[in-house]
Amino acid sequence: MASSSLSVVLLLCLASAVSAQLSSTYYDKSCPSALSKIQAGVAAAVASDRRMAASLLRLHFHDCFVQGCDASVLLNETSVGGNERGAFGNVGSLRGFEVIEQIKKDVEAVCKKPYSNNGSVVSCADILAVAARDSVVALGGPSWEVKLGRRDSTTASVAQANQDLPPPFLDVAGLNASFAGKGFSLTDMVALSGGHTIGMAQCQNFRNRLYNEPNINTTYATKLKLNCPTSGGNTNLAPLDDDTATPPNPDLFNNDFFINLQSEKGLLHSDQVLYNATAPAGATEGIVNGFASSQAAFFSAFASAMVKMANLSPLTGSQGQVRTVCSIPN
Ligand code: HEM
Repeated sequence: MASSSLSVVLLLCLASAVSAQLSSTYYDKSCPSALSKIQAGVAAAVASDRRMAASLLRLHFHDCFVQGCDASVLLNETSVGGNERGAFGNVGSLRGFEVIEQIKKDVEAVCKKPYSNNGSVVSCADILAVAARDSVVALGGPSWEVKLGRRDSTTASVAQANQDLPPPFLDVAGLNASFAGKGFSLTDMVALSGGHTIGMAQCQNFRNRLYNEPNINTTYATKLKLNCPTSGGNTNLAPLDDDTATPPNPDLFNNDFFINLQSEKGLLHSDQVLYNATAPAGATEGIVNGFASSQAAFFSAFASAMVKMANLSPLTGSQGQVRTVCSIPN
């Protein structure tokens, strides 16, 4: 067996061993209302800003891909290892920090107070994992069980964030390498890319595609160019999923993202390459077609890939800590 496949197998074994230490009943005694408080906090945030659901989903992804799901992404500038918030894929882009901080306060207020962990019970990493799930559900997407008991890191890693968060100019080989390195299959990677059925991207992340790539729908490109000129307007926003529903429903979690790829209406380069992708992974085109023709297939693959994501190298037992404030180590 090639050494890369061997390490993926080892990674998967490790992930399932670690997830065995997480449990869906972890807070049943110490904080029985934790889950309902998180759900209420997400619902309130999404009611005042529907995009927040997308932002919370992305926050969990960017947490888990760097040092595992340990809330390292939430730490502020003074953290050992630097500030992941300042990494290339995060700076000026990640949102939702204040929502998580508010949920943390609301949750702790209803927990039984222990003498350890500075009196804190529910980890910021668990809040991120549950909030991501509740955000997807709030916009009509699938649900999945989130196992609990992750602990928070005392350090972050801006270097690892810069290395491990996939940039939008990657082709299928690069995307596959990035996700396979974390133990995800090609199908997982395509399903997770379907997270782009919600949320927005900034002009600077899709300008090159608009003006230089041949495989983009002309009407779609013309519309986008109005708000994303050749220079300037770097932070102007466009929906990642130009929804096909009438009237349009860009805030709904559905499989339109994949239907759009079939008509060359992917916003990011890294999204459109999943369709009409060339070697080594032309196989992604078939996966896109499968998800475009069956929302149920997409939902099921997305949910199982999110479970894998939430189980990436959590700190458990006496590792790490339960932070009192999510942006600062205790
Ligand atoms: C496959 C590799 C991926 C790449 C290259 C990528 C890249 C990006 C980029 C460039 C943006 C726009 C950021 C901005 O302009 O401010 C974005 C937004 C977003 N991404 Fe990804 N992403 C990937 C995978 C994922 C995954 C796995 C998820 C979750 C399952 C996800 C969820 C989101 C969401 C929901 C947004 C919108 C956030 C908001 O509106 O605040 N992405 N992504």
